[in-house]
Amino acid sequence: MTSTVHVPILVEPIVRALIEPFEALTDDAPAHWLVDFTLGGGGHTAALLEALAGQPRLARHRVLALDQDPQAIERARTRFAGELAEGRLEIQTRRFSEAEDLLAQRPILGMMADLGFSSDQMDTAARGLSFQAEGPLDMRLDPTRGRSCREYLTQVSEAELARILEEYGEERFARRIASALVQRRRERKLPTTTKELADLVVHAIPAGARHGRIHAATRTFQALRIQINEEMNELDCLLGRAILFLKPGGRVAILSFHSLEDRKVKQAFRGDREELPPFKPLTKKPLEADEAETNRNPRSRSAKLRVAEKTGSQGETAHRSR
Ligand SMILES: C[S@@+](CC[C@H](N)C(=O)[O-])C[C@H]1O[C@@H](n2cnc3c(N)ncnc32)[C@H](O)[C@@H]1O
Repeated sequence: MTSTVHVPILVEPIVRALIEPFEALTDDAPAHWLVDFTLGGGGHTAALLEALAGQPRLARHRVLALDQDPQAIERARTRFAGELAEGRLEIQTRRFSEAEDLLAQRPILGMMADLGFSSDQMDTAARGLSFQAEGPLDMRLDPTRGRSCREYLTQVSEAELARILEEYGEERFARRIASALVQRRRERKLPTTTKELADLVVHAIPAGARHGRIHAATRTFQALRIQINEEMNELDCLLGRAILFLKPGGRVAILSFHSLEDRKVKQAFRGDREELPPFKPLTKKPLEADEAETNRNPRSRSAKLRVAEKTGSQGETAHRSR
């Protein structure tokens, strides 16, 4: 367990963008839903609930909050016991790629995702996400399924590992690190903890590159976490399938934390993906946290927020517009 509390990022612009379409609904419109795909510590969900409750005209609308992490879900059920009992909030354990049954059941006018992992997941050593806190080499955001990082490293080929480190970590020394890992595997000395992996990476790269602005193992850890949690495939499912369930006039807000994610979001909102109905980007350039927020919350430094609106008339349903 950890006592770290995740501080939500860019709350105000996200809430403002997502609430506006609700304000445009007529008073006799049925209850509509906002979906938070990344419940985490519940920071954005709480702000969305508060914004709906704060205006009597909007108080009947509801929030559906999802997460793949069973521990995050359990904590949120306690935190939001009141809202759950009142029926203002529904919480479900789901991945982006497995949420369609829930999305198809309701009219949805807003969606958000705050990608990646939360500070409390990062600081829970047992999850093996961090080289700062020594833990088992796991990295799964849902530890109940899939392969741990260590299992993955026992099976992956050297060429594939180098490709993952290069593509997902933009790691310059991808081939050297992959070669060092595979060599250790041959010697039956594959790292079993996050710290052992970080040390291996540091020793695999040239001495002159060991003391940069970020820790030498940062990119390797990012790449492996993305691979273990299938984060790129999940984001493709979110952008290519889940957001189809948004009603025309509804909005989607996505907070991303590295260039690979942001590129996918930008392309989807710009209409590069033929399978998507038209979306109008509301942020030409991504919004970033200001100095006050980055001082308060260093994690917000790399955050980029993009918002888009699904075009078409309010009368159309998600299914008709597909
Ligand atoms: C940055 S945190 C969200 C923090 C939250 N907005 C808050 O204010 O506390 C990201 C959360 O998304 C979850 N997550 C990441 N990828 C997911 C996926 N593909 N499906 C479902 N949940 C996912 C993680 O388990 C984590 O709890």
